[in-house]
Amino acid sequence: GHKTFTMLKPDAVEKGHIGAILNQITASGFKITAMKLTQMTTADAETFYAIHKERPFFGELVEYMTRGPIVAAVLEKENAVEDFRTLIGATNPEDAAEGTIRKKYAASIGENAVHGSDSDENAEIEAAFHFAGREMF
Ligand code: GTP
Ligand code: MG
Repeated sequence: GHKTFTMLKPDAVEKGHIGAILNQITASGFKITAMKLTQMTTADAETFYAIHKERPFFGELVEYMTRGPIVAAVLEKENAVEDFRTLIGATNPEDAAEGTIRKKYAASIGENAVHGSDSDENAEIEAAFHFAGREMF
Protein backbone atom coordinates (compact mmCIF):
# COMPACT_ATOMS: atom_id res chain seq x y z
CA GLY A 1 0.00 0.00 0.00
CA HIS A 2 1.95 3.01 -1.26
CA LYS A 3 -0.94 5.19 -2.48
CA THR A 4 -3.68 7.23 -0.83
CA PHE A 5 -6.19 9.83 -2.00
CA THR A 6 -6.93 13.14 -0.27
CA MET A 7 -9.21 16.14 -0.60
CA LEU A 8 -8.60 19.51 1.02
CA LYS A 9 -12.27 20.22 1.71
CA PRO A 10 -14.18 23.47 0.97
CA ASP A 11 -13.62 24.92 4.48
CA ALA A 12 -9.84 24.52 4.20
CA VAL A 13 -9.81 26.15 0.75
CA GLU A 14 -12.11 29.01 1.90
CA LYS A 15 -9.85 29.78 4.85
CA GLY A 16 -6.71 29.94 2.69
CA HIS A 17 -5.04 26.85 4.16
CA ILE A 18 -4.10 25.07 0.88
CA GLY A 19 -0.42 26.01 1.04
CA ALA A 20 0.09 25.25 4.73
CA ILE A 21 -1.63 21.86 4.50
CA LEU A 22 0.23 20.79 1.34
CA ASN A 23 3.47 21.89 3.00
CA GLN A 24 2.76 19.69 6.04
CA ILE A 25 1.83 16.76 3.78
CA THR A 26 5.04 16.92 1.70
CA ALA A 27 7.21 17.64 4.78
CA SER A 28 5.79 14.41 6.24
CA GLY A 29 7.21 12.37 3.36
CA PHE A 30 4.28 12.15 0.96
CA LYS A 31 4.91 12.69 -2.75
CA ILE A 32 2.11 14.36 -4.77
CA THR A 33 1.50 12.29 -7.92
CA ALA A 34 -1.78 13.94 -9.04
CA MET A 35 -3.47 17.19 -7.99
CA LYS A 36 -6.16 19.65 -9.04
CA LEU A 37 -8.57 22.35 -7.83
CA THR A 38 -12.08 21.15 -8.63
CA GLN A 39 -15.66 21.32 -7.35
CA MET A 40 -17.88 18.32 -6.72
CA THR A 41 -21.46 18.31 -8.02
CA THR A 42 -24.26 17.01 -5.79
CA ALA A 43 -24.24 13.76 -7.80
CA ASP A 44 -20.44 13.49 -7.36
CA ALA A 45 -20.66 13.90 -3.57
CA GLU A 46 -23.60 11.49 -3.27
CA THR A 47 -21.57 8.87 -5.17
CA PHE A 48 -18.27 9.53 -3.41
CA TYR A 49 -19.91 9.29 0.05
CA ALA A 50 -22.53 6.63 -0.88
CA ILE A 51 -21.41 4.50 2.08
CA HIS A 52 -22.83 7.20 4.40
CA LYS A 53 -26.18 7.65 2.61
CA GLU A 54 -28.28 6.28 5.51
CA ARG A 55 -26.51 8.42 8.13
CA PRO A 56 -28.41 11.41 9.61
CA PHE A 57 -25.68 13.84 8.50
CA PHE A 58 -25.62 12.74 4.83
CA GLY A 59 -27.50 15.80 3.50
CA GLU A 60 -25.27 18.14 5.48
CA LEU A 61 -22.17 16.29 4.24
CA VAL A 62 -23.21 16.63 0.59
CA GLU A 63 -24.05 20.35 1.05
CA TYR A 64 -20.66 20.96 2.67
CA MET A 65 -18.59 19.03 0.14
CA THR A 66 -20.22 20.78 -2.85
CA ARG A 67 -20.30 24.38 -1.61
CA GLY A 68 -16.96 25.41 -3.08
CA PRO A 69 -13.74 24.19 -4.64
CA ILE A 70 -11.63 21.41 -3.16
CA VAL A 71 -8.07 20.28 -3.83
CA ALA A 72 -8.05 16.63 -4.90
CA ALA A 73 -4.70 14.82 -4.82
CA VAL A 74 -3.09 11.40 -4.99
CA LEU A 75 -0.22 10.84 -2.55
CA GLU A 76 2.51 8.22 -2.48
CA LYS A 77 4.51 6.97 0.48
CA GLU A 78 5.21 3.61 2.05
CA ASN A 79 2.20 2.68 4.25
CA ALA A 80 0.37 5.67 2.76
CA VAL A 81 -3.23 5.03 3.89
CA GLU A 82 -2.43 4.44 7.56
CA ASP A 83 0.32 7.08 7.81
CA PHE A 84 -1.88 9.71 6.17
CA ARG A 85 -4.78 9.03 8.54
CA THR A 86 -2.33 9.43 11.43
CA LEU A 87 -1.16 12.75 9.94
CA ILE A 88 -4.71 14.13 9.56
CA GLY A 89 -5.96 12.97 12.99
CA ALA A 90 -9.38 11.88 14.25
CA THR A 91 -12.59 12.70 12.33
CA ASN A 92 -13.67 15.03 15.16
CA PRO A 93 -10.95 17.68 15.62
CA GLU A 94 -11.74 17.75 19.37
CA ASP A 95 -10.37 14.19 19.50
CA ALA A 96 -7.47 14.78 17.08
CA ALA A 97 -3.89 14.58 18.38
CA GLU A 98 -1.85 17.74 18.81
CA GLY A 99 -0.08 18.78 15.61
CA THR A 100 -2.38 16.84 13.27
CA ILE A 101 -3.91 18.62 10.28
CA ARG A 102 -7.46 18.38 11.66
CA LYS A 103 -6.35 19.62 15.09
CA LYS A 104 -4.78 22.66 13.44
CA TYR A 105 -7.26 23.47 10.66
CA ALA A 106 -10.63 21.78 11.29
CA ALA A 107 -13.54 23.58 12.96
CA SER A 108 -15.82 20.64 13.79
CA ILE A 109 -16.68 17.01 12.97
CA GLY A 110 -18.82 18.32 10.10
CA GLU A 111 -16.17 20.69 8.71
CA ASN A 112 -12.97 18.80 9.20
CA ALA A 113 -10.66 20.25 6.54
CA VAL A 114 -9.31 17.10 4.91
CA HIS A 115 -10.18 13.63 3.65
CA GLY A 116 -8.00 10.53 3.68
CA SER A 117 -8.82 7.15 2.12
CA ASP A 118 -9.54 4.39 4.66
CA SER A 119 -8.12 1.41 2.69
CA ASP A 120 -5.84 0.61 -0.25
CA GLU A 121 -8.89 -0.50 -2.24
CA ASN A 122 -10.75 2.77 -1.59
CA ALA A 123 -7.62 4.80 -2.40
CA GLU A 124 -7.66 3.27 -5.92
CA ILE A 125 -11.42 3.80 -6.33
CA GLU A 126 -11.28 7.41 -5.09
CA ALA A 127 -8.23 8.33 -7.21
CA ALA A 128 -9.96 6.92 -10.31
CA PHE A 129 -13.15 8.82 -9.41
CA HIS A 130 -11.31 12.17 -9.61
CA PHE A 131 -8.49 11.62 -12.11
CA ALA A 132 -7.99 10.26 -15.61
CA GLY A 133 -5.01 7.96 -16.08
CA ARG A 134 -3.02 10.66 -17.89
CA GLU A 135 -3.39 13.00 -14.86
CA MET A 136 -1.68 10.57 -12.46
CA PHE A 137 2.13 10.46 -12.51
P1 GTP B 1 -13.07 11.21 5.56
O1 GTP B 1 -11.59 11.13 5.44
O2 GTP B 1 -13.63 12.51 5.04
O3 GTP B 1 -13.76 9.99 4.95
O4 GTP B 1 -13.37 11.22 7.13
P2 GTP B 1 -13.29 10.00 8.16
O5 GTP B 1 -12.93 8.74 7.47
O6 GTP B 1 -12.44 10.45 9.31
O7 GTP B 1 -14.81 9.95 8.67
P3 GTP B 1 -16.05 9.16 8.04
O8 GTP B 1 -15.66 8.46 6.77
O9 GTP B 1 -16.69 8.38 9.13
O10 GTP B 1 -17.03 10.38 7.69
C1 GTP B 1 -16.92 11.06 6.44
C2 GTP B 1 -17.16 12.53 6.67
O11 GTP B 1 -18.50 12.74 7.05
C3 GTP B 1 -16.34 13.16 7.79
O12 GTP B 1 -15.03 13.50 7.42
C4 GTP B 1 -17.15 14.40 8.08
O13 GTP B 1 -16.91 15.42 7.10
C5 GTP B 1 -18.57 13.88 7.91
N1 GTP B 1 -19.13 13.46 9.19
C6 GTP B 1 -18.84 12.35 9.92
N2 GTP B 1 -19.54 12.30 11.04
C7 GTP B 1 -20.30 13.43 11.03
C8 GTP B 1 -21.28 13.96 11.95
O14 GTP B 1 -21.57 13.40 12.99
N3 GTP B 1 -21.86 15.15 11.58
C9 GTP B 1 -21.56 15.80 10.42
N4 GTP B 1 -22.17 16.95 10.12
N5 GTP B 1 -20.66 15.31 9.55
C10 GTP B 1 -20.05 14.15 9.86
MG1 MG C 1 -13.89 8.07 5.71
